Amino acid sequence: MTMPNPITERAVQAFRQSFGREPALVSFAPGRVNLIGEHTDYNDGFALPCALEFGTAVAMGQRNDARIAARALDFGEEIGLFELGDTIPVLKTGHWQNHLRGIAAGLPRFGLPVRGADLVITGDIPQGTGLSSSASLGVALALGLASLAGESAPDPRTLARVAQWSEHHYVGCACGLMDQIASAFGEPARALLLDCRSLEVRSVGFPGEAAIMIVHSGVTRGLIDSAYNERRAQCADAAAHYDVAALRDLDPAGLEAGRADLDDATYRRARHVVTENARTQLAALAMDRGDLAALGAAMRASHASLRDDFEVSIPAVDALVDFLNEVIGDCGGARMTGGGFGGCVVAVVPQGMVGAINLALDTFWSSKGMARQLSLVARPAPGARLFAVR
Ligand code: GLA
Repeated sequence: MTMPNPITERAVQAFRQSFGREPALVSFAPGRVNLIGEHTDYNDGFALPCALEFGTAVAMGQRNDARIAARALDFGEEIGLFELGDTIPVLKTGHWQNHLRGIAAGLPRFGLPVRGADLVITGDIPQGTGLSSSASLGVALALGLASLAGESAPDPRTLARVAQWSEHHYVGCACGLMDQIASAFGEPARALLLDCRSLEVRSVGFPGEAAIMIVHSGVTRGLIDSAYNERRAQCADAAAHYDVAALRDLDPAGLEAGRADLDDATYRRARHVVTENARTQLAALAMDRGDLAALGAAMRASHASLRDDFEVSIPAVDALVDFLNEVIGDCGGARMTGGGFGGCVVAVVPQGMVGAINLALDTFWSSKGMARQLSLVARPAPGARLFAVR
């Protein structure tokens, strides 16, 4: 058990108001920012995210029946109520309750218990930023519900899988496992090199002088699930074309040698994954050496590949990334982060540059006639955990 933070406190207070008693526990799971290794996770590849200090908190207490009653503070007063059981219905696309219904349905499928519960959900990850509010909700719910039902230390990989299953079957996004693993395994002041085939997690330190900046592009990520699922299908087509189990198994020579008869778009999707896997492993080695310049170069190349080969960036994000890279020079680098189509940009820079970058951003936004957008220095934080109720 850890000490409360502001959103766990908010969840506890709202639980008292909504249900008139003390919650039994509060679970919390963080969002994440990915430094590099984008659209590689569902290709069995490598990613390098860190967990953030922002996340989702869920206060819960047991019920005497097999029902779940839940209130999501950020979605109004409604209390959602449903029966546990073999067939928990999915609500219309986009309904917040689908995340919860999916976790309740998923836990038993992965050998974890679930029982009747009252709960209150709240979070402090801004929606539409690409910082994984959805995975943090899923992991917090899985950890909390399994713990409430008596599982004393649920395996974090299993929690991540339950949250991914819920996304696939209840939310409608065929996501990989990066976000959920990052949320379950986060470490203070460290990034995590994920091998998305073995699900091994290697903790990677930051060069002492490095700061991670997250800057919003001003464009909220829209309805991207269909584009995401399409990219995933194209990667599966490419793997079938090259006759490999996953694009992870393709190297640059094989990519070129087997290119005949492959349409240009599918070839470029595959090229992104092959080159991004190599860049991600190089980036982790660069961090081991404390080499911010090499990390930055890998991040810039990643952005170009996501823009040109994978085609998941948008002009507003490209403009912000180009601007940041111009200001940062070879002291670090910036790129889009997350699934794409808007949201935030990530930059790794020497701490001493943060003030100058923020000043330059003021000029950037006013030249676009836009209000100043969110810009913060991220502090990599621990993964999912339970909080004591005071
Ligand atoms: C989203 C998905 C992840 C991953 C990224 C792209 O965040 O949830 O599984 O595929 O996009 O790297």
